[in-house]
Amino acid sequence: MIVLGIETSCDETAAAVVDGGVRVLSSVVASQHELHREYAGVVPEIASRAHVESILPVVREALSEAGVGLGMIDAVAVGNRPGLIGSLLVGVSAAKSLAWSLGKPLIGVDHVQAHLYSGLLVDEPQGSAAPQPDVFPAIGLVVSGGHTSLYSIESWRAITRLGGTIDDAMGEAFDKAATILGLPYPGGPNLDRLAQSPGANDRAHDFPVSRLAPGSLDFSFSGLKTAMLYAVRGVPTERGEYARSNADLTNESRRDLAASFQRAACKAIIVKLTRAVEQQRAAGKAPRAILVGGGATANSRLRAELHEFSRATGITLRLSPMRYCMDNAAMIAGLGTRLIESGQRSTVDLQAVPTTAV
Ligand code: KG4
Ligand code: ZN
Repeated sequence: MIVLGIETSCDETAAAVVDGGVRVLSSVVASQHELHREYAGVVPEIASRAHVESILPVVREALSEAGVGLGMIDAVAVGNRPGLIGSLLVGVSAAKSLAWSLGKPLIGVDHVQAHLYSGLLVDEPQGSAAPQPDVFPAIGLVVSGGHTSLYSIESWRAITRLGGTIDDAMGEAFDKAATILGLPYPGGPNLDRLAQSPGANDRAHDFPVSRLAPGSLDFSFSGLKTAMLYAVRGVPTERGEYARSNADLTNESRRDLAASFQRAACKAIIVKLTRAVEQQRAAGKAPRAILVGGGATANSRLRAELHEFSRATGITLRLSPMRYCMDNAAMIAGLGTRLIESGQRSTVDLQAVPTTAV
């Protein structure tokens, strides 16, 4: 089955063609980072306008790169939730029009659940021979700019959220910590790079690792972010004034702060993942795989620690390849294929929904 995927939930306009749910024939992503850079964040109205301009060229490019004509498409999948409403509407309208005019099935896909799928994608030509092991029951972990959540996955139609952040998402905390350190936007990758610089001491600061209540599978990153703020600028006076600014930092201290922050953030993820595995095992749902995706899973330390966790527990890790960590449409087409195979369909009244269902 050849599925055209469309993704416009935030600030990337993306289209992809995926065969059999795993073989990525093309994946085109038009990023709007340059448009939002001066605001250090995504401006919704600018994002939707840019999607309107890019959607047709991006779809055309995905089809042409895949060498697939519209007539060869078996279904259209679109990320219809969650996201910025104006942005989602552009992709949903395009997908509906294409599916309706081609007389092909349409399927709406949850963007966050699609991130969980991204570790199962393979690029041509290896994909054609790649065996697809049974991954269920699985534990899912999404770490992005907007989400840090754990899931129990019994099938692609039975995904239960086990916990999530009660304040900042990990990627968001990285972005804010980077701003506190004076690093340029986008902060997450820049903080990661700095933390990896030679000589960086990840134990220079004993930053807090939130555990929350015993057994909790929720995350919290705001305490870590505040600890970073105070380490850089000092504890504020009663009048809210700080003694120092990030301009006072030396290169060495900036590097050590980044490495210590990254160590604490990754530890928080591994602590909760360990708990989730223990709880699922106790409930008789011993996970066969851990499915991980989302923009912040591009983090070098988190990737290394996840591989180590997989080795130590013997649970297979299906970690999103770097190119599918960030928002893309291949993950939408892949999960869309699985949903269609299981008999699910959307109709032309498919809605764009800003919030997530799980
Ligand atoms: O999944 P994504 O593209 O957008 C959302 O759906 O949220 O994730 C973007 C987030 C940003 O917060 C970015 O700073 C973070 O992922 N990120 C990273 C790294 N690369 C991207 N965070 C930490 N380390 C990285 N290497
Ligand atoms: Zn995303």
